[in-house]
Amino acid sequence: MKISSSKSLLALRFLNSEQLLRLINSALELKKSFTENQHPRSLSGQTILNLFFEPSTRTRVSFETAVKRLGGSSVALNLESSSVKKGETLFDTIKNLDAMGFDGIVVRHRHAGVPHFVDNTLGVPVINAGDGFNEHPSQGLLDVFTMIEKQGTVTGKNVLILGDILHSRVARSNIWALKTLGANVFVAGPPTLIPAGIEHMGAIVVPDLAKAIPHMDFINVLRIQYERQDLGYFPTVREYRDRFGLTLDRLQHAKPTVNILHPGPINRGIEIDSDVADGPHNVILDQVANGVIVRMAILQQLLSKGGPA
Ligand code: CP
Repeated sequence: MKISSSKSLLALRFLNSEQLLRLINSALELKKSFTENQHPRSLSGQTILNLFFEPSTRTRVSFETAVKRLGGSSVALNLESSSVKKGETLFDTIKNLDAMGFDGIVVRHRHAGVPHFVDNTLGVPVINAGDGFNEHPSQGLLDVFTMIEKQGTVTGKNVLILGDILHSRVARSNIWALKTLGANVFVAGPPTLIPAGIEHMGAIVVPDLAKAIPHMDFINVLRIQYERQDLGYFPTVREYRDRFGLTLDRLQHAKPTVNILHPGPINRGIEIDSDVADGPHNVILDQVANGVIVRMAILQQLLSKGGPA
């Protein structure tokens, strides 16, 4: 299996700081162009296939919007009414779809490595929209973009990723990109939800949330995955909130400049309270808005004839 590809965006792990900053700067330029009402049509005549084998609201709609805003068109396979339901293999599904002549494919799958498989199998650019617990590179980029937009840089900043790190592809993409760009990355959550070896990615495990919060410039809160609760990772949702929920009480001790991020979807009153999620430190809807811009930058860089990052 190829671990990186020059034509596709499969992971942030293998991008260097120059490549990450090229994408972020390109997104900043696009945001400025749109603010000034200049609309580049860099995907004119191109069609992108959205292949989501898992539910999505933000990622799928923002990729579709990004393609449309750049003058391209996109097609989405409705899996519930597709021949996948008749047992067609992933290999046959993607080979048949590819025969229709798409210019790029955005793929999300519950198994890690599926975007890499699609990339190895087909000749067109592939964008990983989330693969299992592995990576969610466009989310990682939009998170870093939002941090840079809010505080000018991530270099030297303290970033806490709070919650279910074990099952989070968002956490992994954040850690790879933030470490490459020189941030100090901390993780906190129930010990059962902190993966063994996370320190080898450069993250520091925080044993005491209350002591860590006052030092943080950014806190990225992750969704608690209800569907895994019966596997015994934590005793009850109430106890989770009591020990690891981002409440107004906990936030009182944070820097006045702290920014609160969440990739969504949010479980209000569990990993984050509503008065924090909607409060003055939150940049959650900025993340969503920036998601369109960052995905435009990714699509433009991979699909414009100038080549990838
Ligand atoms: N952040 C994120 O991936 O959200 P969706 O699952 O709604 O795409």
